[in-house]
Amino acid sequence: MSIYELLPSNIKNIRSYLPGKPAEELERELEISLVRMAANENPLGPAPRSAEAIRLHSERVHRYPIGDGFYLRQKLAQRLGLSMEEIILGNGSSDIIELVARTFLTPTDETVTSRNSFVMYRLAAQQMNSRMIYVPMKNDRYDLEAILSSLTPRTKVIFLANPNNPTGTMFTAEEMDGFLSHLAPQIIVVLDEAYYEYVQDPHYSHSLEYVKQRRHVIVLRTFSKIYGLAGLRIGYGIAHADFISCLNQVRSPFNTSRVAQVAALAALDDTDHVRKSIECNTQGYQYLTHELSRLGMKFVPSVTNFILVDTQRDCLEEYQRLIQRGVMIWPLKSNGFPTAFRVTIGTQAENEKFIEALERVLCMG
Ligand SMILES: Cc1ncc(COP(=O)(O)O)c(C=O)c1O
Repeated sequence: MSIYELLPSNIKNIRSYLPGKPAEELERELEISLVRMAANENPLGPAPRSAEAIRLHSERVHRYPIGDGFYLRQKLAQRLGLSMEEIILGNGSSDIIELVARTFLTPTDETVTSRNSFVMYRLAAQQMNSRMIYVPMKNDRYDLEAILSSLTPRTKVIFLANPNNPTGTMFTAEEMDGFLSHLAPQIIVVLDEAYYEYVQDPHYSHSLEYVKQRRHVIVLRTFSKIYGLAGLRIGYGIAHADFISCLNQVRSPFNTSRVAQVAALAALDDTDHVRKSIECNTQGYQYLTHELSRLGMKFVPSVTNFILVDTQRDCLEEYQRLIQRGVMIWPLKSNGFPTAFRVTIGTQAENEKFIEALERVLCMG
């Protein structure tokens, strides 16, 4: 008997997210070094204080981590003006997306999101055999009104990324307030703010208010983006204490590592690195959008550290050609945009290399 026959049908139906060969292997095969603009990481790297903390703690890795991340939760609570009981750590914020699904979803529940959003929402809900309802976006933004119309008595969880990956668009605090005021009490909203620190728009989120109001909203943030710690896997969820307590019933005891916890603690103190990262991103955005316009490329204006570029034709070939020229971007076919790719804003040198490679690839037709 094949092992696949033992799979429940919901697991059998999951389309894998794996993108193919690792960048390191492509570099080895092509004998080039790739500029990595595919995963929305911080091109400046980790904060110097995090790097130092990692070095210092490398000799303590024979000890298990502090299971609930006591010190990091304490520091986050102070920063956010909340209590430690309102914070949970995850092995990346993706871990908390799955944790919400495992804790709350059953096969009779429905989950709502958009197909043009972060892939983990689909994976998490499918694992629990929850029916997915995909609500189309409007002008590359979540259509909050259409989401409200899609709700049924079975709706349990709504996943919203703000800003959204891969469109780079946001909804305002006021729009979210209006949306929440229409929700039935049995609905949980996962408000994913992975790119929170990059957004400069004054109308952006005041999501911690929802936690203080004890709504069934969990806000997700991460150290993978502006804090430059994607490889260590650490993120956090913020919700009212009872909500967090439910998640802790399911959380695996040592879900974040010792090194990740200390690196994240140090990152919170490195405000200089955050400031430099925002500056680099703002300058990079101006440069890239100027150059994309010069090349006549269609793109979605972004409030964060990546840009959705629409080539208006199937662009998997462009993806391959860009790799040959040493630049790695993320094709968006599996996110419902067959003609688009997403490019992460890099350093000035990386952005220039990308534009030069793109220009060459476009000339090749
Ligand atoms: C919208 C969104 N949420 C969550 C994540 C996951 O981040 P983490 O590395 O914290 O799991 C990403 C990563 O790309 C993302 O784009």
